[in-house]
Amino acid sequence: MILRFMQSGQVFTPSAPINNQDLFAGRVNQLNRLFGAVSQRGQHAILFGERGVGKTSLANVLLNILSGYKEQFKSVIVNCDTEDRFDQLWYKIFLELENTQVLDFEMHQINPEFIRVRLQRQITGSAVIIIDEMDRLNRDPNFTSLMADTIKTLSDHSTNITLILVGVANHVEELIAEHLSIERALIQIQMPRMSHDELTEIIRKGLERLSMTMEQTLIQAIVFLSQGLPNYVHLLALYASQSAIRENISNINVDHLSKAIKQACENAQHSIMRTYSTSIFSSRQETIYPKVLLACALVKKDETGCFRAVDVREPLSKLVGKKYTTTSAFNRQLNQFCEEARGNILEKKGVERHYRFRFTNAMMPPYIVIEGLRTGIINLEQLQS
Ligand SMILES: Nc1ncnc2c1ncn2[C@@H]1O[C@H](COP(=O)(O)OP(=O)(O)O)[C@@H](O)[C@H]1O
Ligand SMILES: [Mg+2]
Repeated sequence: MILRFMQSGQVFTPSAPINNQDLFAGRVNQLNRLFGAVSQRGQHAILFGERGVGKTSLANVLLNILSGYKEQFKSVIVNCDTEDRFDQLWYKIFLELENTQVLDFEMHQINPEFIRVRLQRQITGSAVIIIDEMDRLNRDPNFTSLMADTIKTLSDHSTNITLILVGVANHVEELIAEHLSIERALIQIQMPRMSHDELTEIIRKGLERLSMTMEQTLIQAIVFLSQGLPNYVHLLALYASQSAIRENISNINVDHLSKAIKQACENAQHSIMRTYSTSIFSSRQETIYPKVLLACALVKKDETGCFRAVDVREPLSKLVGKKYTTTSAFNRQLNQFCEEARGNILEKKGVERHYRFRFTNAMMPPYIVIEGLRTGIINLEQLQS
């Protein structure tokens, strides 16, 4: 039993990116486009999307595949640290690429031309350099322009080197916005949230590994709850499978899922729990805050995660069991959710009459729904309808 318990932790990994191709689900299109960039001289790529959608996992899998062709490709992945300057980052890259502890040049010599010349001299075949977590950099004001110049010179000299820049959307877009001259050299690959099929595949692959099964309706429930964010699928599948393994049962049932939901709430990030309880706080027993917030979490949102006040009417009507035809009954709560006193759990965009709301933290809505299940404001059957 202990062994299978441990094994499930290898298969479902809510807090670690995938680096085993067998456990990697979907993302065929994005992977193909990355290969497109790698195969074309002078092309580089930028991979961007929300936190937690699977950027690092995709980068790892690309690296994994390339490592099967060591003769032709040198490939490395480096992470940016908040404190890194442009030259420090490239120093790390050269240490990795040249597989050494010391380099025969000084950090201050590093600039875009230096990088290109050095790479051309050191690398005989092709190389793929993945720079992850670009959005974490916040120290070096010249970073984006230096990086843009590097891409430009690598591209202009038609080198066999491919840079893949990975990061959270807005920050990475800046790189292109400020430097239109490199747009042609950069393939922009957006990582959307995962589709239902892709999320289902994560569970299916994992269960197969563990020789376990789960009813289709429960798989659908997990997929629905996760709202396109794979880490929630991993989290719920991990807890549910471990709960079944504890009972020595190989078919995961609804009890196991219920326990998983409870466990997921108990183990959520403290910042998420704190913001949630601040946002729904009330001194009165019966308040509408939790239901309005849950309705917001359930609302169908656009690609940027935004929704309108009128969209909240339908899910809220179902939760309260009373038909809302206007937004007047809950407008005040929506606005309060955007205030410091309620944890800024939502943010408001746009102009009056056309306001749009959005959860400040994309990881919040799935937590709210799971918490709603735990406290019984909603149940699994209601969710599925
Ligand atoms: N294609 C995938 N198949 C299976 N699990 C995935 C996939 N992509 C991401 N995950 C899982 O989702 C979570 C977040 O992935 P990660 O790559 O760290 O996202 P990001 O780098 O975008 O923040 C991790 O638990 C990871 O295991
Ligand atoms: Mg990442």
